[in-house]
Amino acid sequence: MNYLEEIFSLEGQTAVVSGGAGAIGTIMSDALLQAGANVAVWSRTKSSLNIFAQRYSDRPELLDKLLTTEVNTSDERSVERAFDEAVSHFAMPEILINGVGGNRGKKPFVDIEVEEFKDILDLNLIAGLVVPTKIFCRRWIDETVKGSIINLTSMTSYNPLSGVWAYNAAKSATLNLTMATANEFAEYGIRVNAIAPGFFLGKQNKALLIDEKTGEYTERGKAVIDRTPFKRFGEVSELAGATVFLASKEASGFITGVSLPIDGGYLVHNI
Ligand SMILES: NC(=O)c1ccc[n+]([C@@H]2O[C@H](COP(=O)([O-])OP(=O)(O)OC[C@H]3O[C@@H](n4cnc5c(N)ncnc54)[C@H](O)[C@@H]3O)[C@@H](O)[C@H]2O)c1
Repeated sequence: MNYLEEIFSLEGQTAVVSGGAGAIGTIMSDALLQAGANVAVWSRTKSSLNIFAQRYSDRPELLDKLLTTEVNTSDERSVERAFDEAVSHFAMPEILINGVGGNRGKKPFVDIEVEEFKDILDLNLIAGLVVPTKIFCRRWIDETVKGSIINLTSMTSYNPLSGVWAYNAAKSATLNLTMATANEFAEYGIRVNAIAPGFFLGKQNKALLIDEKTGEYTERGKAVIDRTPFKRFGEVSELAGATVFLASKEASGFITGVSLPIDGGYLVHNI
């Protein structure tokens, strides 16, 4: 093994990426596969898993390291079943990426629909963190596995974004729970960290940030760029290095409880 492999290789390890066929999950799953891990990609829909697996149709050496599983991560039994499937297909997972989450658009506070607000909390906190973390950590403690968890925080974890009330609440709680669970599980050697993506152009936010007709930034897009010292949006491929770094015990074994912003300096913007 050369020096870089010693520090960053995930060869022989098993990782689970929940929401692993989503926009960000795809990049994180791919990073773990390319770094040598066996990867179980979890999603609610078979179709998204098929699309993900097609990326590797001409890479049989990576397809062999991939398991795709339909899971509902808000359901404890479903997560337990999928966990067991990953164990029997590969080996005990040592890495969990909690990649389920998302937002559902802006509205004034007085127009909040309580049911929708609860759904967004459920999606980001229960499905996106609490259930998988509980199941994995219970199994890791029982089997003395020093696992690593990576949660998905956001710019809203630090400063609220306008109009996305439930998402703000959920993502600030994700940061809080990242720190709290890092503390709780440290005695077992389990690490819990997070990645906080800044603004990345994706299917869901493209129309909000770029005017489809002119290709220019929208008002919101301009506001983001003005506040981003690097003066551009991120490329999702820029999340890969941090994923491997935080997953690797050799590279980040003494790091726990941190949320790593990947934001072109958005959080250090000043006037
Ligand atoms: N996209 C961004 O710019 C951005 C920025 C900051 C943080 N994040 C966070 O990153 C995470 C991933 O975001 P994304 O943009 O890739 O979202 P996405 O919607 O593209 O991916 C999420 C995936 O999770 C799956 N999913 C939803 N509920 C599920 C459940 N109960 N069980 C199993 N799978 C389920 C969805 O089918 C989807 O494939 C989220 O937590 C999001 O808040 C995204």
